[in-house]
Amino acid sequence: MMDRKKKRGSCWGWFVLLVVLGGAAFSCFVLLRNSKSGSVLAATFSVSKKYANALGIAMQFFDVQKSGKLEEDNIAWRGDSALKDGSEAKLDLSKGMYDAGDNMKFGFPMAFTASVLSWAILEYGDQMMLVDQLEPAQTSLKWITDFLINAHPVDNVLYIQVGNPKVDHGCWNKPEDMMEARPLTVVNVTSPGTEVAAEAAAALASASLVFKSVNTTYSSLLLKHARQLFVFADKYRKSYSISIPQVAEFYNSTGYGDELLWAAGWLYHATAEQPYLDFVTGKNAHQFADWGNPSWFSWDNKLPGAQVLMSRISFFGGKDASNSDILMQYRDTAEVIMCGLLPESPSATSSRTENGLIWVSEWNALQHPVASAFLAVLYGDYMNAAQVSSISCDGTTFTPADLRDFAETQVDYVLGKNPMDMSYLVGYGGKFPEYVHHRGASIPGDEFPTCKEGFKWLHSHKPNPNVAVGALVGGPFLNDTYVDARNNSMQGEPTTYNSAFIVALLSSLLSTSSDIKPFA
Ligand SMILES: *[C@@H]1O[C@H](CO)[C@@H](O)[C@H](O)[C@H]1NC(C)=O
Ligand SMILES: *[C@@H]1O[C@H](CO)[C@@H](O)[C@H](O)[C@H]1NC(C)=O
Ligand SMILES: *[C@@H]1O[C@H](CO)[C@@H](O)[C@H](O)[C@H]1NC(C)=O
Ligand SMILES: *[C@@H]1O[C@H](CO)[C@@H](O)[C@H](O)[C@H]1NC(C)=O
Ligand SMILES: *[C@@H]1O[C@H](CO)[C@@H](O)[C@H](O)[C@H]1NC(C)=O
Repeated sequence: MMDRKKKRGSCWGWFVLLVVLGGAAFSCFVLLRNSKSGSVLAATFSVSKKYANALGIAMQFFDVQKSGKLEEDNIAWRGDSALKDGSEAKLDLSKGMYDAGDNMKFGFPMAFTASVLSWAILEYGDQMMLVDQLEPAQTSLKWITDFLINAHPVDNVLYIQVGNPKVDHGCWNKPEDMMEARPLTVVNVTSPGTEVAAEAAAALASASLVFKSVNTTYSSLLLKHARQLFVFADKYRKSYSISIPQVAEFYNSTGYGDELLWAAGWLYHATAEQPYLDFVTGKNAHQFADWGNPSWFSWDNKLPGAQVLMSRISFFGGKDASNSDILMQYRDTAEVIMCGLLPESPSATSSRTENGLIWVSEWNALQHPVASAFLAVLYGDYMNAAQVSSISCDGTTFTPADLRDFAETQVDYVLGKNPMDMSYLVGYGGKFPEYVHHRGASIPGDEFPTCKEGFKWLHSHKPNPNVAVGALVGGPFLNDTYVDARNNSMQGEPTTYNSAFIVALLSSLLSTSSDIKPFA
């Protein structure tokens, strides 16, 4: 284990000094003490102050979204809420995170938030640590994984939702003041939900790796639940959108094959067991991997994430990567995705705004550019670590630096380099959305409206009294414009999974020294 205090301490000393000197970046000389061998390793990191600052802000949105009994008073205007969630099934489902501007806990996107946050920590936790963000990231991750463990009380049962979205969306009140019933939704053998169970398995398997060096008991517990959930997902194959049609109105799943591969990929990384590798290279892969076709990474589509995650095995798997032809197909598909993202590539996607932002959907537009940019930096870092100098896109070659440059254009756009001169990360920069579609942020701290009374705050013409710090809002239209109005949920509603993506992206860009290693 590394000596975290020392590492952090020496970094912050330089940080303060260089901030005082007005430097835009700082370097710090870090000593890593390897307790096993007693040897001292030295490494030099150069950290971007801009991205470090943005990461510190982005991480706070998880605190804004926390349900349950808060252990730390990180957000002055938040308090305990939903303490009885789960009680109708004699479960404690008080933790977890609210989904967006509302007070719902939707298990499918919430589990995905945890999967992406785990991935960010596993790949870039060393960089988060440099700027004191590793522990907050782990704490927020655990806030979701604690919920998921409790939501899985027996083998083939998973509670996937707390609250009735129709009722919840008929109210405008703070989570602290909720009076509405909080009904539970469950998947089980008679009403299975393959994608939601598989996503929970992916979240818990990846988190088991994160916590391996922190608490082995907890890590094992996570892995045990992940294994069981994967069996449930795989054995009882049915989309939760079909079993429980009401969910389709909110987080409709367009298929479960992507989640099965993604979950098996994470379980393979967590266990190194052959059956999971067989799963991602065998008939399920042929059925679901959609090799050769690029798509967009999102809460609904895990395939691009799975292609990049499986590339990791191809790049670094050594003799484990026995089925290398198949693994190469994942990697080739990841390359097709990269070629689509790079703006100078012959196969560059045309899904972009005039100002270069990847743009796929009017609702929550920023999800795709931020998620894609994270995959681009990561893929480039895999290439660097494996000493692969370039990829070829229809005969034109591109380097890891090109992938990183692309990613920086996306995040810089988000942070204010755009025609609105506005940061879409709330709390960052001089100008950011002030009418974010978020109940808690919109209602003054000394007001406690009931369900319907609160709507006057939705319609108020005053800016939000509370800053939803770290929220990544939906984002601009295709024409690069944004309407900062509280009822504009299409553009102005932040989501918790957006935060996982922006945290992952900013962590990946913190420094230029990539240090990709085996997870375990
Ligand atoms: C199984 O799940 C369905 C759908 O949520 C639910 O209606 C049913 O009551 C559950 N069955 C049991 C035994 O809990
Ligand atoms: C480790 O995790 C277990 C299981 O969640 C928990 O009971 C225990 O208190 C944790 N230990 C520490 C030192 O946090
Ligand atoms: C949900 O997704 C399925 C599969 O793509 C689609 O057929 C269905 O129309 C969608 N339902 C809703 C309500 O969007
Ligand atoms: C930009 O696009 C939005 C949504 O399509 C539209 O409502 C708005 O009028 C457009 N603005 C400009 C300046 O073209
Ligand atoms: C938001 O409110 C404004 C002013 O009341 C109205 O003009 C606009 O149509 C509303 N927008 C939406 C998306 O409801």
